[in-house]
Amino acid sequence: MRFEEINGNVFYNGDCIAGTRAHIPDDSVDLIVTDPPYGINGDRLHQHYNRDEAFVVDGYIEVPASDYGEFSNNWIREAERILRPGGSIYIVSGYTNLYHILHALRGTHLREVNHIIWRYNFGVYTSRKYVSSHYHILFYEKPGGERTFNLESRYGAGEKGPENGSLNYRDREDVWCINREYKPGQAKNKNELPTELLVKILQYSSNEGDLVCDMFLGGFTTAKAAVGLNRRATGFEASKQVFDLKIAELRDVTPGSLLPTLRTPRTGEPANRGKPWTDADRETLVSRFTALIESGETKKRAVEILGGELGRGRWAIEKMLKKQRG
Ligand SMILES: C[S@@+](CC[C@H](N)C(=O)[O-])C[C@H]1O[C@@H](n2cnc3c(N)ncnc32)[C@H](O)[C@@H]1O
Repeated sequence: MRFEEINGNVFYNGDCIAGTRAHIPDDSVDLIVTDPPYGINGDRLHQHYNRDEAFVVDGYIEVPASDYGEFSNNWIREAERILRPGGSIYIVSGYTNLYHILHALRGTHLREVNHIIWRYNFGVYTSRKYVSSHYHILFYEKPGGERTFNLESRYGAGEKGPENGSLNYRDREDVWCINREYKPGQAKNKNELPTELLVKILQYSSNEGDLVCDMFLGGFTTAKAAVGLNRRATGFEASKQVFDLKIAELRDVTPGSLLPTLRTPRTGEPANRGKPWTDADRETLVSRFTALIESGETKKRAVEILGGELGRGRWAIEKMLKKQRG
């Protein structure tokens, strides 16, 4: 299979199922972020999305709808194999073939962490029904190791927003409102993912030096964001036309160049340390604690999460829980 190496990162021009089998060892990848073809050949949704079809690169390879189930089983099995124990995978999917992807995931040992809704601007215009303006992002982990989740990589646990809400909590809600990028006059792959979305995933679920794989590179957006954040990157793109055009753009990305653009989170002292507890704080504490335990968190982890949400130290949370629960 043809490949190109840039700054020690290898990208393959070929089918990701055969390609992973041949080139990517078991348990070797820290994070997979990928956006498979949607299996909706023949529909014209992307024309609305991209506005100017003349700038969409030819050569995008679709999967016939009738093959989508088997195709999903095959690539997701490979994804499971190459992920390290504790590694994470994020899969972006539309609604039409989501059930095939969910079904394929159920056939593996991968475990659901979150089902994220990505809400974007400019859904397809409709007049007799609601406007479709979201994608699904399935966030799963491979059991058996410690999963990277950098809780304070973007906002400190005690940071407050304009209405006194926790910025960290808001950033970690499972509905993400992130606009698509329009690149007027530039050649782009269909459905290119916004850098902002990829940076968020990479910040929470990987560290510098980690290996990030995108099995369907398309516009190389995952690879560009990963290299920009000083991660290692690899991946596959079956189309020669798309591969040749987009890998040229990756050559211009300097490793680590996105790092200076990141916000510095304010971490440290819990924001509400020493402040008196209100009745509302106490009610939130008890109800959130119960919900966290019911959702399967350990007591230790629930206390840690509540410390972040309420801007209090571990000891203060534990003491107040004891008092409230008798
Ligand atoms: C939805 S696009 C990916 C878009 C990409 N995330 C981006 O932001 O530009 C899916 C890509 O997978 C490629 N593709 C289709 N089948 C493939 C296969 N079996 N192996 C590797 N790439 C494939 C398509 O040519 C297309 O470029």
